[in-house]
Amino acid sequence: MEVRIQVASSVRRITAHTGLLGVIGYPVDHSLSPLMHNAALEHQGLDLVYLAFPVDPSALAEAVSGARALGMRGFNVTVPHKAAIVALLDRLDALAARVGAVNTVVNDGGSLVGYNTDVTGFLEALATVWPRGASGSRLLVAGAGGAARAVVAAACANGASRVWVLNRTRERAAALCEAAQAWGATPCRIVEAGMLSEAMADADILVNATSVGMAETVKLTPFPVDIVDARHVVVDLVYGSSQTALVTQARAKGIVAIDGKEMLLRQAASSYLLWTGREAPLDVMRLAIRSVGS
Ligand code: ATR
Repeated sequence: MEVRIQVASSVRRITAHTGLLGVIGYPVDHSLSPLMHNAALEHQGLDLVYLAFPVDPSALAEAVSGARALGMRGFNVTVPHKAAIVALLDRLDALAARVGAVNTVVNDGGSLVGYNTDVTGFLEALATVWPRGASGSRLLVAGAGGAARAVVAAACANGASRVWVLNRTRERAAALCEAAQAWGATPCRIVEAGMLSEAMADADILVNATSVGMAETVKLTPFPVDIVDARHVVVDLVYGSSQTALVTQARAKGIVAIDGKEMLLRQAASSYLLWTGREAPLDVMRLAIRSVGS
């Protein structure tokens, strides 16, 4: 069935009443969130605009105070701030508190409340390439920051049979596996040096939750694709204006792989609902990000 989308033809009027939404990250210039959210806001005629703000990690506390002082309605939080922002907010909802990472902040009458919509975003994106979902599946997750915490929490809470964590900094992998004990009965193990092939062979779903593939690492992959094989599916949380190196190389080998756009879309829809109280127009948002890159 063809989906027809009505795009607002009038120029949007920004007035003294227009509310501000946005995303903070570093880097953030690649972000498709402004395109996607503004398309949705215009489509629904809501008096809000969404902008991207590059925030250096050393300026995160200042940026959060600024958002509060300016009365921003809310904002998204992306790499590398998802875990670091937790300590700077006034309140966390139960899921964000359990995961220890925030990707969405809502300004509730001057009080900044942190949410995590990455958890359901990941599960919904995964279902598009792995209909069985996390239940009974074995995951290898590259990364141990905020995005990885959401993925591991989603996997454990949904009965994954095993999670492997591969990370450049071992202590962060250890901290993530320790946290995972509270998220379900799923055993979580660190991929120690020299164990990568063994861990890959013991996984169905390979997830890139690092920032490898972005900015200066655009040509890199978080693990060597030559040891990925046809039994695996690859879920890259990174996206760009063109297909990521991980997705390109995996697909060249005939492996089912998705980049971060599907998860971006799903987490964004939940954030939009939190800020506006409206169901997000998914088709409008999908069309907005499809018009860019791969
Ligand atoms: P977020 O909380 O938003 O996910 P983050 O906490 O900075 O962001 O996490 C980024 C992840 O990407 C981390 O797992 C990081 O590894 P470290 O824990 O060792 O810092 C990983 N990462 C970033 N750049 C990387 C690189 N060049 N090679 C390998 N891993 C990288």
